[in-house]
Amino acid sequence: MPANPALRDYLLNRRSVGLAFLQEPGPSPSELETILTIATRVPDHGKITPWRLVIFEGDARRDAGERLAAILGQRRPDLDAASLEAERQRFLPAPLTIGVLSVPQEHPKVPELEQVLSAGNVAFNLLNAAFALGYAASWVTRWFAFDDEAAAMLGAGAGERFVGFVHIGTSRAVIEDRPRPALSDVVTRWSVPD
Ligand SMILES: Cc1cc2nc3c(=O)[nH]c(=O)nc-3n(C[C@H](O)[C@H](O)[C@H](O)COP(=O)(O)O)c2cc1C
Repeated sequence: MPANPALRDYLLNRRSVGLAFLQEPGPSPSELETILTIATRVPDHGKITPWRLVIFEGDARRDAGERLAAILGQRRPDLDAASLEAERQRFLPAPLTIGVLSVPQEHPKVPELEQVLSAGNVAFNLLNAAFALGYAASWVTRWFAFDDEAAAMLGAGAGERFVGFVHIGTSRAVIEDRPRPALSDVVTRWSVPD
């Protein structure tokens, strides 16, 4: 495969753009198809497709936020109006959010960790695909990924877990990069133990 300087430079500079900085326009239907196709082209030991995706777009974004607020409001009647409003806005203003569900399956050779990692690759490739098409994106989980009632309301079936929600839209600001780890802190060379 020939060297690809554009891809190298993208990978050297890639950074997320948070939900608050995303705005319309989002991907067109055909761009979304491309984004989904890229995202589902990931390493998958055993070819078992241990993940699936849930799209939140249009009015469904507000409906999902309303239901998140209703779940929290019922559990915590003391919650202030601003906090409830924050829940209502969870899928706004991004034009598009894609939830990635880990769907682990019993397999004689592929442990669950590998299957969850494959789902994580789908989420990361959603970011890459969004950027490749000129959009911006970020990957969050938030409380509702880990809350059974909320996750079920958002589309998780039995035994499924959200590994992330990838918000996608057009960036309305140039985002500063965050500090990155020094390679010397995270990389060692293995040698025969003493
Ligand atoms: C699995 C996962 C879950 C995350 N969940 C959240 C979250 O709930 N809230 C948040 O503010 N950031 C969350 N983040 C971090 C954001 O993606 C953050 O924007 C990211 O670390 C920026 O890094 P980047 O610029 O290298 O993409 C999560 C990251 C990962 C990998």
